[in-house]
Amino acid sequence: MCGIVGYVGEKKCTPILLNGLKNLEYRGYDSAGIAVLEKNSIQIRKAKGRVKNLEELMQKDLCEGTIGIAHTRWATHGKPSKENAHPHEDNSHSFALVHNGIIENYKQLRRFLKEQDYTFYSETDTEVIPNLIHYYYTKQEKTKKGFLQAVALACKKLEGSFAILVLCKDFPKTIILARRNSPLVVGKGENEYYIASDMPAILEYTRDFYFLEDNEITLLEKDSIDFFDFDLDKHKKELVHSGLNRHASSKNGYQDFMLKEIEEQPQAIFETLQKEIELPLSRKEISSFSQIYIVACGTAMHAGLVGKTCIESFCKIPTFVEIASEFRYRNPLVDSDTLCIFISQSGETADTIAALKLAKQKGAKTIAISNVMGSSLVREADMYFYTYAGPEIAVASTKAYTSQVCLLCMIAISLAKQLKTTSKNELESFKKELLQLPQEIESILDNKDSIQLLAKQLYLEKDMFFLGRGIDYATCLEASLKLKEISYIHSEAYPAGELKHGPIALIESNTAVVGILTEETLLDKTISNLQEVMARGAKIFVVTNQVLPENNFDFIFSVPKTNRFLSPILSIVPFQLFSYYIAKEKDLDIDKPRNLAKSVTVE
Ligand code: F6R
Repeated sequence: MCGIVGYVGEKKCTPILLNGLKNLEYRGYDSAGIAVLEKNSIQIRKAKGRVKNLEELMQKDLCEGTIGIAHTRWATHGKPSKENAHPHEDNSHSFALVHNGIIENYKQLRRFLKEQDYTFYSETDTEVIPNLIHYYYTKQEKTKKGFLQAVALACKKLEGSFAILVLCKDFPKTIILARRNSPLVVGKGENEYYIASDMPAILEYTRDFYFLEDNEITLLEKDSIDFFDFDLDKHKKELVHSGLNRHASSKNGYQDFMLKEIEEQPQAIFETLQKEIELPLSRKEISSFSQIYIVACGTAMHAGLVGKTCIESFCKIPTFVEIASEFRYRNPLVDSDTLCIFISQSGETADTIAALKLAKQKGAKTIAISNVMGSSLVREADMYFYTYAGPEIAVASTKAYTSQVCLLCMIAISLAKQLKTTSKNELESFKKELLQLPQEIESILDNKDSIQLLAKQLYLEKDMFFLGRGIDYATCLEASLKLKEISYIHSEAYPAGELKHGPIALIESNTAVVGILTEETLLDKTISNLQEVMARGAKIFVVTNQVLPENNFDFIFSVPKTNRFLSPILSIVPFQLFSYYIAKEKDLDIDKPRNLAKSVTVE
């Protein structure tokens, strides 16, 4: 999805902006552009396609200024094209602006502005904003305060989501920033500030950040930063130091972020497990919960499925998992006796945020789990906990998933402790098993060559089926999603017992079927289901932590045995590697699969 970078300081801004945009490439985009303030003019360069196209253009057509804004666009209103790329200008070429988000009332605003003789040159919703700013600016004194006032008045008229950076040719030292429902961070340097929609874009320059809030506007110059609300009441804001190291968002010698992130899982889980989880709720409050909802999208929802099993077992509270885009539109039966847990790596997924707002409106207590400090989800929730996986750059989620599962297990422990629904001894030994996970994942990673060999055998498959029962079914869903999204192989995940009710019709000679076998009590049943498909000609590949009876499966990969609720954290790792190596064999763009974006900030 769209990305924003900005700079104000003493250095030439073009290389910094281009580098920031490259750091945001993982988010998925179709065009890129830059605006630089040079004396009293704004220089704009745009290109369709990759940031390198923009870079090539700028090598021929230099911009020398020390203050600028930049953007990668992921088309929502209007096709990918140079005309629709940001920055957008107002008709008088006085303002240039980049925007993340969607302006829901842009049609009304466009109509209004056309009545005032403004002309539009793009198909975007964004182009109304610089023109609206200009409209209000013409009614103000031509001072910095007038510029600020014009942006604030325009923001008040906008409906929907926006993070914007605005330049005005009358103020060659100033950038104005504003946001609502779309993230913006400002990084502080020496006599300079870096701006980004996502911290990884600027992590190599600074680790001190201001996180902008909704309905906040910021006036930025190289040596000053002032925060206001849209009524221009000024307030102070705390500078937050991020513990992330500067290599956290670089490949650091790896060919792809995805492999780096798969291999970072022992560290990510270790870091996540270091923090104590104390729910700021009394025993009475926790006892009042009659149900728990876990709401998320995609891989984060799959983490919820694992968490549900653990929470129900330890806390004895009925727990339901829902896809956020469904939950938000179906008037769910949640009330003040409901605890709702929302999971989002980015903390910016539009559906998950909307679902959280709905649950709050209905009086539920809300917990956010996110991997991104200060993300929108975290800001909206009653309570929040972070996974400490470090920036996840590859579109396919890996280390965030396993860290989310760990965090849910820790929440289960904390709830069960208060409720006294599980013995202290059991919780203590569960904790010990959690702490073993990093080294157990290391041992799986040590055997990655055998997974690579398997991928070499199977990369030309057209379809694959993943079968498992109980908690293994959650792993099947996640393994199947990983395969689809980066290798473009069609795959389906089924509870193994469900196969006979239809899908078995798809099995023919040499169909690839994967079985996940960690549920000890269900082992025989799942093996029988695998034998049924084998009898119809399927090739069988198995990941297990059990000692299997004699069999003629085509491939068996063993993972360490751990607590039942933790087995998905180990059994997903071979499938992350499998999807990665298949995509590698197919020479695909692993970190940026087609049609996908890292954080889905629109519905
Ligand atoms: C799959 C994947 C997506 C995300 C989903 C939610 O590998 O990454 O399915 O899990 O888009 O994203 P977050 O967790 O940022 O809300």
